Amino acid sequence: MHVNLGEIPVLGVGIGLREEIKDETILHNKEIDVLELITEQFTPDMSPSRRALLDSFHSQFPLIPHGVGLSIGSAHAIPEKKIEEIKWLCDLLDAPYYSEHFSLNNDEEEEFSIGHLSPIWHTDEELDIVVEKILLLQERLNRPIVLENITSSFDLPESDYTETEFITKVCDRTSAGLLLDVTNVYINAYNRKKDPLEFLKAFPLERVVQMHLAGGELHHDWFSDTHSQELSGPNEPVWQFFEYAVAHCSNLRAVIIERDQNFGSDFEKALLEDVRRIRRIWHPVISSSAKAPQKV
Ligand SMILES: [Fe+2]
Repeated sequence: MHVNLGEIPVLGVGIGLREEIKDETILHNKEIDVLELITEQFTPDMSPSRRALLDSFHSQFPLIPHGVGLSIGSAHAIPEKKIEEIKWLCDLLDAPYYSEHFSLNNDEEEEFSIGHLSPIWHTDEELDIVVEKILLLQERLNRPIVLENITSSFDLPESDYTETEFITKVCDRTSAGLLLDVTNVYINAYNRKKDPLEFLKAFPLERVVQMHLAGGELHHDWFSDTHSQELSGPNEPVWQFFEYAVAHCSNLRAVIIERDQNFGSDFEKALLEDVRRIRRIWHPVISSSAKAPQKV
């Protein structure tokens, strides 16, 4: 499949679709351009009530499916059932691309799960595995694949490449896009005592299609990627790296805030204030583009 990331429309600023905040999300739909949903929560055999929820949101927002169960770094082939389920959802939503993670997390039958997105070895052998799977997925889904950088506590030993070298090689060999989680960049740099800006610059920024931002928790000088906080306090430094990334990612199409817990009762404080701040930073960069979404 010929992949041209430039053909993906600008989707705008959004949040994750979460059951806990579904009413507030619809109430504030004029301020939210796009929603990202977790693929594994919306399978073809979902309950009628789940399907009704999906249809309701689909009638009001563009929806981007974001998978967590592909385990693209595992040695086994992607199960056919998994590909069919992903394709079904992508087609239903008319998704402009499909996103997943540079990770491994389960076995072929999904009977054994680590319960966590775990880092993959950045080796030549692993590179071939990931490239082959992306090329297959792009053909079968007939849309670009966009992969996300994850957090990990340390670099795996005996690697042939650094994380950013590995990601760059994957993108070069497959034309895949990058979902740049700016918070994950900052957390990995913070915990490993690296310079976050130098780390950020090493990613193939021209391949970035989407970004994630999320508030983590800082305990005893260790940052945890909890998706539970606003982007303030100890998370405030992430904004300067987001500003740098926005200015250097010419193919950026969507920015999503990931919030999975600790929503509280103040939706504005938990999410909308950060949505507006993203828009204030990104808007000047794309305001001259005819592709800008109406709500931006
Ligand atoms: Fe993320």
